[in-house]
Amino acid sequence: MSKYAFILGQASHLAAAELLSVLNQPKNYSWQDNLLIADTELEPESLLKQLGGTIKIAKIIGNYQNLADFKTADWCQYLRSPHTWGQKLEGKFTFGFSLYQGTQKDYQHLFKLALSVKKELRAKTSVRLVTSREPILSSVIVTKNNLLNKELLFLKIKNSWAVAITCAVQDFDDYGQRDILRPERDSRSGMLPPKLAQMMLNLAGTDKNLNLLDPFCGSGTILQEAMLLGFKNIHGTDISPKAIADSQKNIDWLKNKYNLKNKVNLKLSDVQNLAKIFKNKEIDLIVTEPFMGDARNLQEETILDLKKLYYQAFLSFAKICSQKTKIVFIFPEINLKNQTLNTLDKKAIASCGWQQIHSPFGELIYQRPGQTVTRNITLWQRQ
Ligand SMILES: C[S@@+](CC[C@H](N)C(=O)[O-])C[C@H]1O[C@@H](n2cnc3c(N)ncnc32)[C@H](O)[C@@H]1O
Repeated sequence: MSKYAFILGQASHLAAAELLSVLNQPKNYSWQDNLLIADTELEPESLLKQLGGTIKIAKIIGNYQNLADFKTADWCQYLRSPHTWGQKLEGKFTFGFSLYQGTQKDYQHLFKLALSVKKELRAKTSVRLVTSREPILSSVIVTKNNLLNKELLFLKIKNSWAVAITCAVQDFDDYGQRDILRPERDSRSGMLPPKLAQMMLNLAGTDKNLNLLDPFCGSGTILQEAMLLGFKNIHGTDISPKAIADSQKNIDWLKNKYNLKNKVNLKLSDVQNLAKIFKNKEIDLIVTEPFMGDARNLQEETILDLKKLYYQAFLSFAKICSQKTKIVFIFPEINLKNQTLNTLDKKAIASCGWQQIHSPFGELIYQRPGQTVTRNITLWQRQ
């Protein structure tokens, strides 16, 4: 097993919870802000494709008490490994580095060190050091400059340093295409980013044979990400005929684009009437972003209506779920007139027979700057 540094995206608590779930809840890990360190035998590139919240995966190659203990020769040695350098020394060799949790002084030290590495390597081939305005090279820069296995990460962890080499970065292009190029997008009913849909699906575990349902499927983002993750039994329902038609179009488009064969069943239904469609205990997993109110007309009364809808939804889920069913459900928190109004009524949901599974990372919040609605991603099981 190798030790890896996982660089997490903006919603780092959610990303950390997702990652631990996909790694099958390892006991030994360390977590600090947007960095989680854990062992895994999984192959980094395919692991990263599964994860919505992780930006980079880097293999830890050394630990140092002080940054000054890491020398030019150490750096050159890692870059010269056959994996990085390859057999041929033709063309331009690019390399780079990112500093996590360090100071400006640490960055200056590393920059000087990188220049001496460049000088040393230049004796063998033409070399370019990739830098950016930030101490961290983004996944876009790493990909565009072909820096996989050539970017070193310097990670300050408490009072010492870990050095890691990047082996996988998030495919920003593919996420963009999945989001923007799909034929139907409904900005009125809210647009769930594919990354968030992926994180929600992963939160519940790794079993792709479960009978999955999104009962507020809208234009089908969760269903589409479930297809890409390899879920075999996918169901989507929604009260709106347009939503069902949109989901169908998006699913057909995705199947075509990625040559997917998963079966997805779509049905028109009010969330309260799920028992008319599904048998008792038929559903093993529910992952959903429910109706969160009309974004252009959010008022205090909206909160009461939403609480009622969510209560009815959880009552309805109890009729079609097995004892092992998990639910991943977004409760919106709505910012109105400088106060935050919460739609999660824990007592009401508990009275439907469900209990919340709390994450070791606290509340799992997904928020984008300037948005009036904050999403609280929650996980539930039967009492
Ligand atoms: C926020 S959208 C879901 C968006 C979806 N996650 C997506 O990516 O497109 C909420 C959906 O809930 C549906 N809806 C509203 N009330 C409902 C109800 N009582 N039963 C079932 N669906 C309902 C709406 O038609 C809408 O498509």
